[in-house]
Amino acid sequence: MEIKAFADDPKKLTVKSAVVLLFEGDTRPLSRLGRGISAKARKALEALNFKGKEGQLERVPLPGQRVEVLYAVGLGKKEKVDLDTYRRAIATAVKRLKKDGVEEALVISPRIDAKISQALAEGAVLGSYTFDKYKTSKEKERKEIKRLLIHKADDPSFKRGTILAEAQNYARSLVNEPGNVINPITLAEEAKRLAKEFKLQCRVYDEKEIQDMGMLALWSVGKGSATPPRFIHLTYKPRGKPKDRIVIVGKGLTFDSGGLNIKPGDYMRTMKMDKSGACAVLGIMRAIAQLKPRVEVHGIIGAAENMPSGTAYRPDDIIRAKNGKYIEIDNTDAEGRVTLADALSYASELKPSKIIDMATLTGACMVALGEYTAGLFTNSRRFAEEIKRIAKETGERVWELPMDDERLRKKIKKGPADVVNTGGRYGGAITAAMFLEEFVGEGIEWVHLDIAGPAWSKEEYGYYTQGGTGFGVRTCVEYIMGLSS
Ligand code: BES
Ligand code: MN
Ligand code: ZN
Repeated sequence: MEIKAFADDPKKLTVKSAVVLLFEGDTRPLSRLGRGISAKARKALEALNFKGKEGQLERVPLPGQRVEVLYAVGLGKKEKVDLDTYRRAIATAVKRLKKDGVEEALVISPRIDAKISQALAEGAVLGSYTFDKYKTSKEKERKEIKRLLIHKADDPSFKRGTILAEAQNYARSLVNEPGNVINPITLAEEAKRLAKEFKLQCRVYDEKEIQDMGMLALWSVGKGSATPPRFIHLTYKPRGKPKDRIVIVGKGLTFDSGGLNIKPGDYMRTMKMDKSGACAVLGIMRAIAQLKPRVEVHGIIGAAENMPSGTAYRPDDIIRAKNGKYIEIDNTDAEGRVTLADALSYASELKPSKIIDMATLTGACMVALGEYTAGLFTNSRRFAEEIKRIAKETGERVWELPMDDERLRKKIKKGPADVVNTGGRYGGAITAAMFLEEFVGEGIEWVHLDIAGPAWSKEEYGYYTQGGTGFGVRTCVEYIMGLSS
Protein backbone atom coordinates (compact mmCIF):
# COMPACT_ATOMS: atom_id res chain seq x y z
CA MET A 1 0.00 0.00 0.00
CA GLU A 2 1.31 3.38 -1.02
CA ILE A 3 0.33 6.40 1.08
CA LYS A 4 0.77 9.77 -0.53
CA ALA A 5 -0.06 13.34 0.22
CA PHE A 6 -2.28 15.21 -2.17
CA ALA A 7 -1.99 18.95 -1.90
CA ASP A 8 -4.13 20.11 -4.80
CA ASP A 9 -7.89 20.64 -5.07
CA PRO A 10 -9.68 17.26 -4.75
CA LYS A 11 -12.07 18.38 -7.48
CA LYS A 12 -9.20 17.96 -9.97
CA LEU A 13 -8.71 14.34 -8.97
CA THR A 14 -10.14 11.35 -10.80
CA VAL A 15 -10.17 8.88 -7.91
CA LYS A 16 -13.46 7.01 -7.79
CA SER A 17 -13.59 6.45 -4.03
CA ALA A 18 -13.25 8.89 -1.15
CA VAL A 19 -13.02 8.41 2.59
CA VAL A 20 -14.16 11.40 4.61
CA LEU A 21 -13.51 11.52 8.35
CA LEU A 22 -16.09 13.61 10.15
CA PHE A 23 -16.49 15.04 13.63
CA GLU A 24 -19.89 14.50 15.19
CA GLY A 25 -22.45 16.89 13.76
CA ASP A 26 -20.09 18.58 11.31
CA THR A 27 -20.20 17.57 7.64
CA ARG A 28 -18.31 20.62 6.35
CA PRO A 29 -15.25 18.66 5.11
CA LEU A 30 -17.52 17.09 2.46
CA SER A 31 -17.52 20.42 0.66
CA ARG A 32 -13.95 19.83 -0.45
CA LEU A 33 -15.34 17.28 -2.92
CA GLY A 34 -17.39 19.94 -4.68
CA ARG A 35 -20.85 21.35 -4.21
CA GLY A 36 -22.80 18.76 -6.19
CA ILE A 37 -21.20 15.76 -4.51
CA SER A 38 -21.38 17.18 -1.01
CA ALA A 39 -25.06 18.08 -1.34
CA LYS A 40 -25.91 14.54 -2.48
CA ALA A 41 -23.71 12.97 0.17
CA ARG A 42 -25.25 15.05 2.97
CA LYS A 43 -28.71 13.99 1.93
CA ALA A 44 -27.76 10.32 1.78
CA LEU A 45 -26.00 10.49 5.16
CA GLU A 46 -29.02 12.10 6.73
CA ALA A 47 -31.20 9.29 5.41
CA LEU A 48 -28.75 6.78 6.88
CA ASN A 49 -28.92 8.60 10.22
CA PHE A 50 -25.17 9.24 10.14
CA LYS A 51 -24.23 11.48 13.05
CA GLY A 52 -20.45 11.10 13.01
CA LYS A 53 -20.32 9.10 16.23
CA GLU A 54 -16.99 7.37 16.76
CA GLY A 55 -16.75 4.11 14.81
CA GLN A 56 -19.79 4.81 12.63
CA LEU A 57 -19.09 4.06 8.97
CA GLU A 58 -21.44 4.50 6.04
CA ARG A 59 -20.90 3.68 2.40
CA VAL A 60 -22.62 6.15 0.11
CA PRO A 61 -22.89 5.32 -3.60
CA LEU A 62 -22.98 8.43 -5.79
CA PRO A 63 -23.95 7.13 -9.23
CA GLY A 64 -22.90 9.34 -12.13
CA GLN A 65 -20.64 11.55 -9.97
CA ARG A 66 -16.89 12.10 -10.26
CA VAL A 67 -16.49 10.34 -6.91
CA GLU A 68 -18.62 7.23 -7.33
CA VAL A 69 -18.45 5.91 -3.77
CA LEU A 70 -17.99 7.82 -0.57
CA TYR A 71 -17.17 6.36 2.82
CA ALA A 72 -18.11 8.55 5.74
CA VAL A 73 -16.35 7.68 8.99
CA GLY A 74 -17.33 9.17 12.34
CA LEU A 75 -14.64 10.52 14.67
CA GLY A 76 -17.00 11.37 17.52
CA LYS A 77 -17.18 14.61 19.46
CA LYS A 78 -14.53 17.09 18.31
CA GLU A 79 -13.31 17.84 21.83
CA LYS A 80 -12.83 14.15 22.61
CA VAL A 81 -10.85 13.31 19.49
CA ASP A 82 -7.17 12.47 20.02
CA LEU A 83 -4.47 11.02 17.75
CA ASP A 84 -5.61 7.46 18.33
CA THR A 85 -9.12 8.35 17.17
CA TYR A 86 -7.65 9.13 13.75
CA ARG A 87 -5.74 5.83 13.76
CA ARG A 88 -8.85 3.85 14.61
CA ALA A 89 -11.06 5.71 12.14
CA ILE A 90 -8.81 5.23 9.13
CA ALA A 91 -8.21 1.61 10.14
CA THR A 92 -11.95 1.01 10.17
CA ALA A 93 -12.17 2.58 6.73
CA VAL A 94 -9.23 0.57 5.37
CA LYS A 95 -10.74 -2.70 6.59
CA ARG A 96 -13.93 -1.83 4.73
CA LEU A 97 -12.14 -0.69 1.54
CA LYS A 98 -10.31 -4.00 1.46
CA LYS A 99 -13.53 -5.91 1.88
CA ASP A 100 -15.16 -3.93 -0.94
CA GLY A 101 -12.15 -4.42 -3.22
CA VAL A 102 -11.41 -0.70 -3.49
CA GLU A 103 -7.84 -0.21 -4.71
CA GLU A 104 -7.45 3.54 -4.53
CA ALA A 105 -9.06 6.24 -2.42
CA LEU A 106 -8.79 9.87 -1.51
CA VAL A 107 -8.84 10.54 2.24
CA ILE A 108 -10.13 13.78 3.70
CA SER A 109 -9.59 14.60 7.36
CA PRO A 110 -11.23 17.58 9.08
CA ARG A 111 -7.88 18.43 10.70
CA ILE A 112 -4.39 17.70 9.46
CA ASP A 113 -0.86 18.38 10.68
CA ALA A 114 2.36 16.37 10.91
CA LYS A 115 1.20 14.31 13.90
CA ILE A 116 -2.23 13.55 12.44
CA SER A 117 -0.57 12.66 9.12
CA GLN A 118 1.65 10.17 10.90
CA ALA A 119 -1.28 8.76 12.87
CA LEU A 120 -3.27 8.31 9.65
CA ALA A 121 -0.41 6.41 8.03
CA GLU A 122 -0.08 4.24 11.13
CA GLY A 123 -3.80 3.54 11.29
CA ALA A 124 -3.93 2.67 7.59
CA VAL A 125 -0.98 0.27 7.73
CA LEU A 126 -2.11 -1.30 11.03
CA GLY A 127 -5.68 -1.57 9.77
CA SER A 128 -4.66 -3.45 6.65
CA TYR A 129 -2.94 -6.16 8.72
CA THR A 130 -4.01 -9.77 8.30
CA PHE A 131 -2.52 -13.05 9.47
CA ASP A 132 -3.83 -15.65 7.05
CA LYS A 133 -0.75 -17.58 5.98
CA TYR A 134 -2.24 -20.78 7.39
CA LYS A 135 -5.54 -20.40 5.52
CA THR A 136 -5.39 -22.44 2.34
CA SER A 137 -8.85 -21.45 1.12
CA LYS A 138 -9.54 -18.80 -1.52
CA GLU A 139 -10.99 -16.22 0.83
CA LYS A 140 -7.51 -14.86 1.50
CA GLU A 141 -7.19 -13.69 -2.07
CA ARG A 142 -8.76 -10.40 -1.17
CA LYS A 143 -7.55 -7.40 -3.06
CA GLU A 144 -4.96 -5.19 -1.44
CA ILE A 145 -5.37 -1.43 -1.36
CA LYS A 146 -2.86 0.04 -3.78
CA ARG A 147 -2.94 3.74 -3.01
CA LEU A 148 -4.29 6.15 -0.39
CA LEU A 149 -4.10 9.84 -1.21
CA ILE A 150 -4.39 11.95 1.91
CA HIS A 151 -5.53 15.48 1.36
CA LYS A 152 -3.09 18.20 2.45
CA ALA A 153 -1.02 15.82 4.53
CA ASP A 154 2.66 15.86 5.33
CA ASP A 155 4.75 13.35 3.32
CA PRO A 156 7.73 12.82 5.71
CA SER A 157 5.28 11.99 8.50
CA PHE A 158 3.87 9.14 6.41
CA LYS A 159 7.29 7.64 6.07
CA ARG A 160 7.78 7.58 9.83
CA GLY A 161 4.25 6.35 10.47
CA THR A 162 4.63 3.59 7.90
CA ILE A 163 7.94 2.40 9.37
CA LEU A 164 6.44 2.32 12.87
CA ALA A 165 3.28 0.51 11.83
CA GLU A 166 5.15 -2.00 9.70
CA ALA A 167 7.42 -2.74 12.66
CA GLN A 168 4.34 -3.24 14.83
CA ASN A 169 2.75 -5.52 12.22
CA TYR A 170 5.96 -7.51 12.08
CA ALA A 171 5.82 -7.97 15.87
CA ARG A 172 2.15 -8.98 15.63
CA SER A 173 2.88 -11.68 13.09
CA LEU A 174 5.65 -13.12 15.22
CA VAL A 175 3.35 -13.20 18.24
CA ASN A 176 0.71 -14.97 16.16
CA GLU A 177 3.11 -17.75 15.17
CA PRO A 178 2.46 -20.80 17.34
CA GLY A 179 4.89 -22.60 19.61
CA ASN A 180 5.55 -25.37 17.11
CA VAL A 181 6.88 -22.77 14.66
CA ILE A 182 8.55 -20.23 16.93
CA ASN A 183 10.59 -21.82 19.68
CA PRO A 184 13.75 -20.41 21.31
CA ILE A 185 15.93 -21.66 18.45
CA THR A 186 13.75 -20.39 15.61
CA LEU A 187 13.19 -17.08 17.42
CA ALA A 188 16.96 -16.63 17.56
CA GLU A 189 17.21 -17.51 13.86
CA GLU A 190 14.58 -14.89 13.12
CA ALA A 191 16.57 -12.31 15.11
CA LYS A 192 19.64 -13.14 13.02
CA ARG A 193 17.68 -12.88 9.80
CA LEU A 194 16.28 -9.51 10.87
CA ALA A 195 19.75 -8.28 11.82
CA LYS A 196 21.10 -9.24 8.43
CA GLU A 197 18.26 -7.60 6.54
CA PHE A 198 18.44 -4.35 8.51
CA LYS A 199 22.19 -4.22 9.19
CA LEU A 200 22.11 -4.68 12.95
CA GLN A 201 24.61 -6.59 15.04
CA CYS A 202 23.24 -9.82 16.47
CA ARG A 203 24.81 -12.25 18.92
CA VAL A 204 23.01 -15.43 19.99
CA TYR A 205 24.17 -17.47 22.99
CA ASP A 206 23.25 -21.18 23.11
CA GLU A 207 22.39 -23.23 26.21
CA LYS A 208 26.02 -24.00 26.97
CA GLU A 209 27.08 -20.36 26.70
CA ILE A 210 24.07 -19.34 28.77
CA GLN A 211 25.32 -21.56 31.61
CA ASP A 212 28.94 -20.49 31.17
CA MET A 213 27.90 -16.85 31.49
CA GLY A 214 26.12 -17.61 34.75
CA MET A 215 22.62 -17.14 33.42
CA LEU A 216 21.30 -20.11 35.36
CA ALA A 217 17.91 -18.52 35.93
CA LEU A 218 17.13 -18.37 32.21
CA TRP A 219 18.69 -21.79 31.74
CA SER A 220 16.61 -23.34 34.55
CA VAL A 221 13.34 -22.10 33.10
CA GLY A 222 14.29 -23.51 29.71
CA LYS A 223 15.70 -26.85 30.75
CA GLY A 224 12.38 -28.69 30.91
CA SER A 225 11.84 -28.24 27.19
CA ALA A 226 13.11 -30.39 24.33
CA THR A 227 14.10 -27.11 22.68
CA PRO A 228 16.88 -25.45 24.68
CA PRO A 229 16.90 -21.74 25.60
CA ARG A 230 18.66 -19.00 23.65
CA PHE A 231 19.87 -15.56 24.68
CA ILE A 232 19.61 -12.92 21.97
CA HIS A 233 21.48 -9.60 21.88
CA LEU A 234 20.82 -7.16 19.03
CA THR A 235 22.72 -3.90 18.73
CA TYR A 236 22.14 -0.71 16.79
CA LYS A 237 25.02 1.78 16.78
CA PRO A 238 24.63 5.18 15.16
CA ARG A 239 27.30 6.83 13.02
CA GLY A 240 29.23 9.24 15.19
CA LYS A 241 29.04 9.67 18.93
CA PRO A 242 25.76 8.42 20.43
CA LYS A 243 23.75 10.86 22.54
CA ASP A 244 22.60 8.12 24.88
CA ARG A 245 22.55 4.37 25.41
CA ILE A 246 19.37 2.42 26.12
CA VAL A 247 18.55 -1.27 26.46
CA ILE A 248 15.15 -2.73 25.59
CA VAL A 249 14.49 -6.12 27.22
CA GLY A 250 11.66 -8.45 26.18
CA LYS A 251 10.23 -11.51 27.90
CA GLY A 252 10.57 -14.32 25.37
CA LEU A 253 8.61 -17.35 26.53
CA THR A 254 7.79 -18.98 23.21
CA PHE A 255 5.24 -21.04 25.10
CA ASP A 256 4.26 -21.00 28.75
CA SER A 257 2.60 -24.23 29.88
CA GLY A 258 3.28 -23.26 33.49
CA GLY A 259 5.93 -25.97 33.84
CA LEU A 260 5.47 -28.43 36.73
CA ASN A 261 2.93 -25.98 38.19
CA ILE A 262 1.04 -26.68 35.01
CA LYS A 263 -1.71 -24.33 33.85
CA PRO A 264 -5.27 -25.60 33.40
CA GLY A 265 -6.19 -25.90 29.72
CA ASP A 266 -8.21 -22.69 29.53
CA TYR A 267 -5.28 -20.68 30.85
CA MET A 268 -2.67 -22.41 28.71
CA ARG A 269 -4.53 -21.45 25.55
CA THR A 270 -2.97 -18.38 23.85
CA MET A 271 0.28 -18.79 25.82
CA LYS A 272 2.15 -18.60 22.51
CA MET A 273 1.72 -14.89 23.17
CA ASP A 274 4.07 -15.08 26.17
CA LYS A 275 6.85 -14.02 23.78
CA SER A 276 5.14 -10.68 23.01
CA GLY A 277 7.79 -8.62 24.81
CA ALA A 278 10.49 -10.31 22.73
CA CYS A 279 8.55 -9.75 19.51
CA ALA A 280 8.15 -6.08 20.43
CA VAL A 281 11.92 -5.86 20.92
CA LEU A 282 12.46 -7.25 17.41
CA GLY A 283 9.91 -4.79 16.01
CA ILE A 284 11.61 -1.91 17.82
CA MET A 285 15.07 -2.86 16.53
CA ARG A 286 13.68 -3.10 13.02
CA ALA A 287 12.20 0.41 13.16
CA ILE A 288 15.31 1.83 14.84
CA ALA A 289 17.51 0.41 12.07
CA GLN A 290 15.38 2.31 9.55
CA LEU A 291 14.95 5.57 11.47
CA LYS A 292 18.61 5.74 12.53
CA PRO A 293 18.52 7.81 15.74
CA ARG A 294 21.75 9.14 17.28
CA VAL A 295 21.32 6.74 20.19
CA GLU A 296 22.90 3.37 20.89
CA VAL A 297 20.12 0.82 21.25
CA HIS A 298 20.43 -2.74 22.53
CA GLY A 299 17.65 -5.31 22.21
CA ILE A 300 17.82 -8.20 24.68
CA ILE A 301 15.74 -11.37 24.70
CA GLY A 302 15.93 -14.38 26.99
CA ALA A 303 14.12 -17.02 24.93
CA ALA A 304 12.85 -20.19 26.59
CA GLU A 305 9.93 -22.59 26.59
CA ASN A 306 8.38 -23.36 29.97
CA MET A 307 7.51 -27.07 29.96
CA PRO A 308 6.92 -29.82 32.53
CA SER A 309 9.25 -32.80 32.20
CA GLY A 310 11.83 -34.89 34.00
CA THR A 311 14.40 -32.18 33.36
CA ALA A 312 12.15 -29.27 34.31
CA TYR A 313 13.02 -26.90 37.16
CA ARG A 314 10.94 -27.44 40.29
CA PRO A 315 9.25 -25.61 43.11
CA ASP A 316 11.80 -25.31 45.99
CA ASP A 317 14.79 -25.06 43.59
CA ILE A 318 17.27 -22.35 44.51
CA ILE A 319 19.01 -20.79 41.52
CA ARG A 320 21.86 -18.30 41.21
CA ALA A 321 21.15 -15.49 38.72
CA LYS A 322 23.78 -13.66 36.66
CA ASN A 323 24.12 -10.81 39.18
CA GLY A 324 24.88 -13.27 41.97
CA LYS A 325 21.53 -13.14 43.74
CA TYR A 326 19.81 -16.39 44.68
CA ILE A 327 16.20 -17.04 43.66
CA GLU A 328 13.97 -19.56 45.37
CA ILE A 329 11.28 -21.03 43.14
CA ASP A 330 7.85 -21.07 44.75
CA ASN A 331 5.88 -21.55 41.54
CA THR A 332 7.32 -22.60 38.17
CA ASP A 333 4.56 -20.65 36.43
CA ALA A 334 6.09 -17.38 37.64
CA GLU A 335 8.86 -18.07 35.12
CA GLY A 336 8.97 -14.77 33.24
CA ARG A 337 10.54 -12.86 36.11
CA VAL A 338 13.11 -15.64 36.53
CA THR A 339 14.25 -15.35 32.90
CA LEU A 340 14.20 -11.55 33.19
CA ALA A 341 16.46 -11.71 36.25
CA ASP A 342 19.31 -12.75 33.96
CA ALA A 343 18.25 -10.55 31.05
CA LEU A 344 18.15 -7.46 33.30
CA SER A 345 21.49 -8.39 34.90
CA TYR A 346 23.05 -8.71 31.46
CA ALA A 347 21.41 -5.47 30.30
CA SER A 348 22.80 -3.65 33.36
CA GLU A 349 26.34 -4.82 32.51
CA LEU A 350 26.06 -2.90 29.23
CA LYS A 351 26.05 0.25 31.42
CA PRO A 352 23.11 2.01 29.76
CA SER A 353 21.55 5.13 31.22
CA LYS A 354 18.12 3.53 30.79
CA ILE A 355 16.40 0.17 30.53
CA ILE A 356 12.85 -0.55 29.41
CA ASP A 357 11.55 -4.06 29.82
CA MET A 358 8.34 -5.38 28.34
CA ALA A 359 6.81 -8.59 29.63
CA THR A 360 3.54 -10.47 29.58
CA LEU A 361 4.29 -10.95 33.24
CA THR A 362 1.18 -11.30 35.39
CA GLY A 363 -2.50 -12.12 35.19
CA ALA A 364 -2.71 -9.90 38.28
CA CYS A 365 -1.94 -6.83 36.15
CA MET A 366 -5.00 -7.61 34.02
CA VAL A 367 -7.11 -7.97 37.15
CA ALA A 368 -5.89 -4.55 38.32
CA LEU A 369 -6.13 -2.54 35.10
CA GLY A 370 -8.27 -4.53 32.66
CA GLU A 371 -6.90 -6.16 29.56
CA TYR A 372 -6.31 -3.03 27.45
CA THR A 373 -3.85 -1.18 29.68
CA ALA A 374 -0.24 -2.01 30.49
CA GLY A 375 1.05 -1.64 34.03
CA LEU A 376 3.97 0.77 34.31
CA PHE A 377 6.54 0.45 37.10
CA THR A 378 9.64 2.53 37.58
CA ASN A 379 12.55 3.65 39.73
CA SER A 380 12.68 7.01 37.93
CA ARG A 381 10.01 9.71 38.04
CA ARG A 382 11.36 11.62 35.03
CA PHE A 383 11.63 8.53 32.83
CA ALA A 384 8.14 7.31 33.77
CA GLU A 385 6.52 10.68 33.09
CA GLU A 386 8.14 10.83 29.66
CA ILE A 387 6.94 7.34 28.73
CA LYS A 388 3.43 8.18 29.95
CA ARG A 389 3.40 11.37 27.87
CA ILE A 390 4.45 9.49 24.73
CA ALA A 391 2.03 6.61 25.36
CA LYS A 392 -0.82 9.16 25.35
CA GLU A 393 0.13 10.06 21.78
CA THR A 394 0.71 6.52 20.54
CA GLY A 395 -2.60 5.37 22.01
CA GLU A 396 -0.83 2.56 23.88
CA ARG A 397 -2.53 2.78 27.25
CA VAL A 398 -0.27 2.61 30.32
CA TRP A 399 -1.03 3.21 33.99
CA GLU A 400 1.49 3.46 36.75
CA LEU A 401 1.30 1.22 39.81
CA PRO A 402 3.22 2.00 43.01
CA MET A 403 6.58 0.52 43.97
CA ASP A 404 6.89 2.17 47.40
CA ASP A 405 5.00 -0.31 49.57
CA GLU A 406 7.82 -1.77 51.65
CA ARG A 407 5.47 -4.19 53.43
CA LEU A 408 4.56 -5.66 50.05
CA ARG A 409 8.24 -5.86 49.12
CA LYS A 410 8.87 -8.13 52.13
CA LYS A 411 6.74 -10.80 50.49
CA ILE A 412 9.39 -11.55 47.87
CA LYS A 413 12.21 -11.35 50.41
CA LYS A 414 11.03 -14.35 52.41
CA GLY A 415 12.52 -17.84 52.55
CA PRO A 416 16.02 -19.26 52.37
CA ALA A 417 17.27 -17.28 49.33
CA ASP A 418 17.67 -13.57 48.54
CA VAL A 419 14.31 -13.50 46.75
CA VAL A 420 11.41 -15.85 46.13
CA ASN A 421 9.68 -15.83 42.75
CA THR A 422 6.12 -15.14 43.95
CA GLY A 423 4.68 -12.75 46.47
CA GLY A 424 1.19 -14.14 46.95
CA ARG A 425 -2.14 -13.28 45.43
CA TYR A 426 -2.57 -9.63 46.35
CA GLY A 427 -0.61 -6.99 44.47
CA GLY A 428 0.79 -9.69 42.22
CA ALA A 429 1.82 -7.30 39.45
CA ILE A 430 3.63 -5.09 41.96
CA THR A 431 5.54 -7.88 43.72
CA ALA A 432 6.57 -9.18 40.27
CA ALA A 433 7.93 -5.71 39.41
CA MET A 434 9.72 -5.54 42.79
CA PHE A 435 11.31 -8.89 41.99
CA LEU A 436 12.60 -7.50 38.67
CA GLU A 437 14.00 -4.42 40.40
CA GLU A 438 16.43 -6.69 42.29
CA PHE A 439 18.25 -7.26 39.00
CA VAL A 440 18.47 -3.70 37.70
CA GLY A 441 21.95 -2.25 38.18
CA GLU A 442 22.67 0.66 40.50
CA GLY A 443 22.04 4.10 38.99
CA ILE A 444 20.18 2.88 35.91
CA GLU A 445 16.81 4.44 35.19
CA TRP A 446 14.29 1.68 34.56
CA VAL A 447 10.72 1.32 33.34
CA HIS A 448 8.93 -2.02 33.42
CA LEU A 449 5.80 -2.49 31.31
CA ASP A 450 3.59 -5.43 32.25
CA ILE A 451 1.87 -6.03 28.90
CA ALA A 452 0.02 -9.25 29.84
CA GLY A 453 -3.30 -7.64 28.87
CA PRO A 454 -2.70 -5.40 25.85
CA ALA A 455 -0.22 -7.71 24.05
CA TRP A 456 -3.15 -9.81 22.90
CA SER A 457 -6.57 -8.80 21.65
CA LYS A 458 -9.45 -11.20 22.11
CA GLU A 459 -11.60 -9.25 19.70
CA GLU A 460 -11.20 -7.02 16.68
CA TYR A 461 -11.04 -3.35 17.68
CA GLY A 462 -9.92 -0.22 15.78
CA TYR A 463 -6.61 -1.11 14.16
CA TYR A 464 -6.30 -4.39 16.05
CA THR A 465 -7.41 -7.75 14.75
CA GLN A 466 -7.95 -10.72 17.02
CA GLY A 467 -4.51 -11.93 18.17
CA GLY A 468 -1.14 -10.31 18.78
CA THR A 469 -1.16 -6.51 18.91
CA GLY A 470 2.52 -5.53 18.81
CA PHE A 471 1.86 -3.35 21.84
CA GLY A 472 4.82 -1.28 23.00
CA VAL A 473 6.63 -1.00 19.69
CA ARG A 474 5.51 2.53 18.82
CA THR A 475 5.86 3.94 22.33
CA CYS A 476 9.43 2.66 22.73
CA VAL A 477 10.52 3.77 19.26
CA GLU A 478 9.04 7.25 19.75
CA TYR A 479 10.78 7.50 23.10
CA ILE A 480 14.14 6.54 21.58
CA MET A 481 13.65 8.97 18.69
CA GLY A 482 13.04 11.68 21.29
CA LEU A 483 16.44 10.96 22.89
CA SER A 484 18.03 11.56 19.52
CA SER A 485 16.84 15.10 18.91
N1 BES B 1 2.65 -15.55 31.22
C1 BES B 1 1.98 -15.55 32.46
C2 BES B 1 1.15 -14.26 32.68
C3 BES B 1 0.00 -14.05 31.76
C4 BES B 1 -1.28 -14.48 32.12
C5 BES B 1 0.15 -13.38 30.56
C6 BES B 1 -2.34 -14.27 31.27
C7 BES B 1 -0.92 -13.17 29.72
C8 BES B 1 -2.17 -13.60 30.08
C9 BES B 1 2.97 -15.67 33.61
O1 BES B 1 4.09 -16.41 33.33
C10 BES B 1 2.26 -16.35 34.71
O2 BES B 1 1.93 -17.51 34.55
N2 BES B 1 2.04 -15.64 35.81
C11 BES B 1 1.36 -16.16 36.94
C12 BES B 1 2.16 -15.80 38.16
C13 BES B 1 1.72 -16.49 39.41
C14 BES B 1 2.05 -17.98 39.33
C15 BES B 1 2.42 -15.86 40.57
C16 BES B 1 -0.04 -15.54 36.97
O3 BES B 1 -0.17 -14.36 36.64
O4 BES B 1 -0.97 -16.24 37.32
MN1 MN C 1 3.80 -18.50 33.65
ZN1 ZN D 1 4.69 -16.52 31.36
